[in-house]
Amino acid sequence: MNEKQMLTVALAKGRMQQDALALLARAGVVVNEDEIRSRRLAIMDEQNRFRFVLVKPTDVPVYVEHGVADCGVVGHDVLAESDADVLQPLDLGIAACRLVVAARVGERLEDAVVLRVATKYPRLAAKHFAGRGIAVEVIKLAGSVELAPSLDLADCIVDLVETGRTLLENDLQIVETILTSSGRLCVNRASYQMKPQVKELIEMFGRVANKVQNQAAVSV
Ligand code: PRP
Repeated sequence: MNEKQMLTVALAKGRMQQDALALLARAGVVVNEDEIRSRRLAIMDEQNRFRFVLVKPTDVPVYVEHGVADCGVVGHDVLAESDADVLQPLDLGIAACRLVVAARVGERLEDAVVLRVATKYPRLAAKHFAGRGIAVEVIKLAGSVELAPSLDLADCIVDLVETGRTLLENDLQIVETILTSSGRLCVNRASYQMKPQVKELIEMFGRVANKVQNQAAVSV
């Protein structure tokens, strides 16, 4: 297979990458276990149809918008925070989580004249509070956001919750949910038009993603 026929897919490293590769394996796209366990950041499937580049979640929309990757798999939260111009044809139903406002138990957020909000999601946080007419100072952090209230860097945080363990173990509780998120397939606009394999990948993902969602619906 030559370079032109091969698709490059950017995967958000971590759980999203694992879940996306598991979904693809069910669709018959298999990546060798040794490749997955290696520290290589670009790995191929066994049939050399796909090159997977493993990148930070926030970089996935950047790679896809610039066309360095034809497609990407990343959370809805990251795409919503980014202003990248990419297509989003499919919700894969993987790595589900929520973006929430959280604060210390008993914290009276309504007393703050200007609410200090620590977050990895400055755009979504600013939009959320602007929509409620609440004045905020958004403090951008790169991680470990749950520390901010106990160190008095912020009155509350806007962050992801998956199991809820990190909030609980840092004495925080959910105030409200901003959005629910799961893994999305995103696609470069030109690749969608020019490369027929993109539509094949969408169909392939669609078959197995729907199965996962149907199974979840049945098991509820
Ligand atoms: C994410 C998120 C929360 C945590 C939520 O952080 O930002 O901190 O996971 O998971 P839980 O509800 O299952 O406890 P991540 O592990 O990406 O680390 P980071 O905050 O340092 O980016």
